[in-house]
Amino acid sequence: MLGRVKPLDAILATAEKRALHRTLGPVQLTLLGIGAVIGTGIFVLTSEAAQKAGPGMLLSFVVAGSVCAVAALCYAELASMVPVSGSAYTYTYAVVGEIFAWMVGWALILEYAVGASAVAVGWSNHAVGLINGLGFHFPAVISNADGLLAHVQLALGAAHSEDLDKALKIGGWINVPAIIVTAVVTWLLVIGTTESARFNAVLVVVKITALTAFVALTLPVLDAENFNPFLPTGIGNPLDSSGLGVLGAAASIFFAYVGFDAVSTAAEETKNPQRNVPIGLIGSLLICTAFYLLVASGAIGAIGAQPVVNAAGRVLLPGTPELAGRCAAIVQSGAIEPLVCSREALVHVLQAIDWPLIGRLVGLAAVVALPSVVLMMMFGQTRIFFTMARDGLLPEKLASVHPKHRTPHVVTVVTGIAAAFAAAVLPVGRLADYSNAGTLFAFMMVAISVMVLRRTNPNRARPFRAPFLWVIAPLAIIGCVTLYLSLPLTAKLVLPVWGVVGLVVYFGYSRNRSHVGRGMVEVPELDPDIPPQPVPSLPGGTALD
Ligand code: ALA
Repeated sequence: MLGRVKPLDAILATAEKRALHRTLGPVQLTLLGIGAVIGTGIFVLTSEAAQKAGPGMLLSFVVAGSVCAVAALCYAELASMVPVSGSAYTYTYAVVGEIFAWMVGWALILEYAVGASAVAVGWSNHAVGLINGLGFHFPAVISNADGLLAHVQLALGAAHSEDLDKALKIGGWINVPAIIVTAVVTWLLVIGTTESARFNAVLVVVKITALTAFVALTLPVLDAENFNPFLPTGIGNPLDSSGLGVLGAAASIFFAYVGFDAVSTAAEETKNPQRNVPIGLIGSLLICTAFYLLVASGAIGAIGAQPVVNAAGRVLLPGTPELAGRCAAIVQSGAIEPLVCSREALVHVLQAIDWPLIGRLVGLAAVVALPSVVLMMMFGQTRIFFTMARDGLLPEKLASVHPKHRTPHVVTVVTGIAAAFAAAVLPVGRLADYSNAGTLFAFMMVAISVMVLRRTNPNRARPFRAPFLWVIAPLAIIGCVTLYLSLPLTAKLVLPVWGVVGLVVYFGYSRNRSHVGRGMVEVPELDPDIPPQPVPSLPGGTALD
């Protein structure tokens, strides 16, 4: 069962035949990474991390960033050896075999599709904030689903509490702006829009400018007292399922780093990928980590970041209707809204320290830039589906190509509908946690693959050799497992449940149709006009330039 490995040379030969234009250099690649990484994580989930760890979230950023750094080194080695699209799925197929590749591809659906939903909700928070800031009143009932969740919780047997009742009263039913942004991005992808490197660079400048302004305005008003107590919820215990503490926050804020793997998926379009892909991966990660630590320090130092507790003194979990209800009660009492309650963390901090206009501009930057993160994630999803269909593991119909736009419109619309549905009814933190569960699994498999390949294929050229692999790859595995176990219980359950569904599909459908299983190593193309693994340049595409 483990013998179905797709030969590396076959993968490389397919890539060779494709002969995509190699245009990306190290700077563009690093910008691509930053463009995919900076998004809802830092702009929104900073509040969630504060609720879980208080000022200790600074350590959470370091922990999550470190896990990504060691995973990135493993990615870099594989990406330099196998500079083709398909990312973790392709690497796993080549190294540990089909069934693991299938599980990774299946988990990447969580990473990309659910991740796109999370970013869409983050966008919605900022769009609603902007509309309200302009003096309009966007109805709460269609801007979040806190009320709906409270009803579901009661229906499942939860007891009434002051906080839950409040959420019932003021919480919304459906997140319409999140549906709208997902629908627009889906449409853009269907008509063949891809983001050009230049357009991405502009958005990176917008985001970096917003974060720099935030740091410049908050660091001068930093109050050391706000870092005290530093660890109100402790380090956290991966085995207790509370999701709190430094590790719990790290498991959530991990989302803020997701996306750097986009760099490896652009390997086929990169000049000298052996040198530039590792630079892009590590470079974008380092730059983002530096910004995140500065931004988090500014947010904590400027207004404090202590968790909100309920009447019984218990720290409420982010993304629960109870916390939404408690926050509403705090605001109605006339007190200043705590950081942990804000749906737009960075905007809120700037408003609280009397920079309302700059705060709104930072919100505007998020509104302008986050759709591109949604686009990259949805695009990543279609790319994975496409590659799996090309390998015979998913129906080719799913990857059928639009006659006019020449895009894989069926899979794009299916992904769009699923992502819009999730974004409509779930809070951002939960979506990010579900997405993280899938991503952590994929990262772990990459770390395993790189070690296996060192043993099974020691003489193959490795243009980039991860330093101290026998230390960093096990560290990546330990880090991924620890973060996964530190997720809240529901997020932890999502992965095995999703995995079981995946195995049923694999054994019920894919296994007998697999091209590798049927000895078809030469992979047929689905359509002569479309690359088998679409990368950001589908023919006929309209570049957002
Ligand atoms: N890292 C990306 C974000 O935070 C997914 O939005």
